[in-house]
Amino acid sequence: MSTEKWNVTFHVYRKKEGEAPHYDDFEMEVNPDEYVLDGIERIWAFQDESLCFRHACHHSTCGVCGMRINGVEKLTCITTIRSVAHNGATIKVEPLRNFPIISDLVVDMGSLYSRMEQVHARSVLPISQAEIEKPEKEWPKGAEQYIRLSDCIECGLCISACPISATSVDYLGPAVLAGAQQNGLKRDPVLLRIVGNEDGAWRCHSAFECTAVCPSFVDPARRIMDLRRQIVVERYRRIFQRPEKVNQPAKEVTQ
Ligand code: SF4
Ligand code: FES
Repeated sequence: MSTEKWNVTFHVYRKKEGEAPHYDDFEMEVNPDEYVLDGIERIWAFQDESLCFRHACHHSTCGVCGMRINGVEKLTCITTIRSVAHNGATIKVEPLRNFPIISDLVVDMGSLYSRMEQVHARSVLPISQAEIEKPEKEWPKGAEQYIRLSDCIECGLCISACPISATSVDYLGPAVLAGAQQNGLKRDPVLLRIVGNEDGAWRCHSAFECTAVCPSFVDPARRIMDLRRQIVVERYRRIFQRPEKVNQPAKEVTQ
């Protein structure tokens, strides 16, 4: 870390129950190689302990520190101040969009978690640590699919960035549809109905905003395109009742 010092202003969204939303400014001296989350923690510790925000792991694993920084979805624990500001700059900090706000920078992510369970996305982690540690060429066929699924940290950045989630509360959203794609439809008529209806894969407008902000390279937009393929194949299979295996997840999604 450099010894540089910058003066920046954090322009922070505030909203408490029963109060009108507004922004508060907090000035401070920072090292530009510190993370945005460090600055937010310092606001809480030294300037305003009523500031509400979430954080846990501080290394992009738990997925709870997602916010919009200067209008762009970021994990604040891995976003350096240098990457979003300059000396003398103002850093705008806001909660994720498309989730109900609980307090200040904290949103209610319940809809994401319950929908992930609805499509059984969380149940697919068949790769053992021992297998992951082997060279890639020794992985079981198709293993990279599942490893990437475990990469989804359910941070919600993709849903905040998604223009369709902004206009339709019932849209399942990128993370959920990506989870369904990786899981495969498994000839499950209930799952087919959930992801194949008007609030599922067909509602996506291919804006690719989700893929642009995903910190874990899940590439939800591309997975939604493949999920559509799975849905079409499964529907044809159901019409013609072909017995062959036609509805496996895509062979590969490269980064
Ligand atoms: S797909 Fe990416 S952006 Fe969306 S919840 Fe998972 S890790 Fe976060
Ligand atoms: S604090 Fe866990 S991902 Fe940022």
